[in-house]
Formats: sequence, C-alpha cells, structure tokens
Amino acid sequence: MTNIKILWGIIILLLVLSGFLINKFVSGEVTPSEDGRTNVVMTKDERNLILDEMRAFLVSVQAVSQAITENDLDKVADLAHKAGMAAEEGTPGALLQKIPLGMKKLGFGTRDKFDEISATAKTTKDPLVLRKQLDALMQNCIACHAIYRLPEPH
Ligand code: HEC
Repeated sequence: MTNIKILWGIIILLLVLSGFLINKFVSGEVTPSEDGRTNVVMTKDERNLILDEMRAFLVSVQAVSQAITENDLDKVADLAHKAGMAAEEGTPGALLQKIPLGMKKLGFGTRDKFDEISATAKTTKDPLVLRKQLDALMQNCIACHAIYRLPEPH
C-alpha cells in the first residue's frame, strides 16, 4: 500500500517537474519592457553572442542582396547556405532555454528562409524570385525586433 503511495508521489513529482520544464521551454526567461516589447533576459556573454549573430545577419542580408543584383546565383546559394541552419550549430542549449518559443520560431524560421534561398538559387535562373524570397525573409527581422529586446545585464 505504501509502495503505491510512494509511486504516486513520484509520478506526481515528475508531472509537476515536466510541466515546469515545458512551461520554461515555451515562455523562456522574460520580463515586460517599458517600451511595450518583451525583455529576454540572459547573461552578458549570451547577449553578446546573440548581438554578434545579429550583426552577422545584417552582413548576410546585404551580401545575398548584392549577389542577387549581380546575378551571381552560385554566390547567392553559398552565402545563403552559410547563414542558414548551418550557422545555428554553435548556439548553446542553456541559451535556447531562455528564449521564448515565439522568438525561437522566428529565429529558426529566418535560418530556414536562408536555406530556402540557397536551394532556390541552385534551381532558378530568375534573380527576381530570389529577391522576393529575401524580401519575405526580412519580414522576420522586422517582426522579431518589434516584439523582443535584449536588456543589458547590470
Ligand atoms: C528571433 C528574433 C530576431 C530575428 C529573427 C532577428 N533579430 Fe535582430 N535582434 C533581435 C533582438 C532581440 C535584438 C536586440 C534588440 C534590442 O535590444 O533592442 C536584435 C538586434 C539586432 C541588431 C543590433 C546588433 C547590435 O550589435 O546591437 C542588428 C544589426 C540586427 N538585429 C539585425 C537583424 C537582421 C538583419 C535580421 C534578419 C536577417 C534580424 N536581426 C533578425 C532579434 C531578432
């Protein structure tokens, strides 16, 4: 009888724990921001890593755009591939936990869109198709910046 009680105790404990972990995964480490956006709270090093990735994003968008203008589709494929999911390998798991699900979706969605551009560049001869895909990709940059900010840790 007591064994069953202990078993139930363990089951309930595991349920509470997994509920907590799922909740963390969805909500991330957030606080409200005074400008109406959502603060995503992380350490100084983690914030520096993300901002570094952001500046690399801007470099990639410019480079892909220029390669499209120059109609150099091999270069588009190569640059877009490097900015796609391949660039995500170095992101630490502990940092991903702090990022709310909505932001993760927009972030990985942006990587996916770079991969799509890379794949399209290998099959199309029409740079305008790629230009339109890049236009759509940049909507992700705008959407995420409108919702989230990274406060500087004290
Ligand atoms: C998943 C969310 C997300 C996406 C997608 C995203 N960003 Fe950001 N980016 C942020 C956040 C959050 C900040 C910090 C903004 C703040 O604190 O006000 C930021 C900051 C930046 C910065 C400033 C970097 C610095 O050193 O201060 C640049 C540049 C930037 N993003 C470019 C881009 C570009 C270009 C894209 C699209 C290719 C993009 N971002 C897509 C979330 C995102």
